[in-house]
Amino acid sequence: MKVLLSEEVVRHGVRKLAVDIESVYQDRPLTIVGLMTGSIVLLADLIRLLKMPLRVGVLQTSSYRDGTERQQLQINSDLMLEISDREVLVIDDIFDTGHTLNEVLFRLRQLNPTSIRSAVLLRKSGRQEVELQPDFVVFEIPDQFVVGYGLDYCDQYRNLPFVAALEPADIGSV
Ligand code: IMP
Ligand code: MG
Repeated sequence: MKVLLSEEVVRHGVRKLAVDIESVYQDRPLTIVGLMTGSIVLLADLIRLLKMPLRVGVLQTSSYRDGTERQQLQINSDLMLEISDREVLVIDDIFDTGHTLNEVLFRLRQLNPTSIRSAVLLRKSGRQEVELQPDFVVFEIPDQFVVGYGLDYCDQYRNLPFVAALEPADIGSV
């Protein structure tokens, strides 16, 4: 695999994201909803950089249930928080076609939050199939399958502290 964003570069990006989020919400209470499992690392790093009163909930979404092909989206909300009359920020690892975030935001809006925004670590260039754009994007990356910093290939590599592009030799080797 080939490193795209080093640990240092990712750390700087996440710090800037925290500053941008604080400039929008200031010290107002915020509810962060992390999409599992890809956002766990970003979620853990980001919340420790934010100083406003914060609640954290998670939703489990999965579309890549088998390798790199996109499958039907599944959403499990067992660990979700009450969000009516709350300011909500949904966090995900990567904005690819955009269907995951689009569907999640559509469903959460029906729960009457005061506001709802979204933040992603990565956006893949030229892949989007929806109108929605995330409110915060940390890095724009080329159209390659990436792993690390929460992102997986067949449930592997989430623990890598950097973001790397898979190479043909990596596919099928887990
Ligand atoms: P979307 O619905 O196409 O935007 O896909 C979003 C979800 O697909 C993300 O939450 C990721 O879990 C997964 N995904 C998309 N691209 C990649 C990738 O390059 N590596 C790992 N997971 C990916
Ligand atoms: Mg995901």
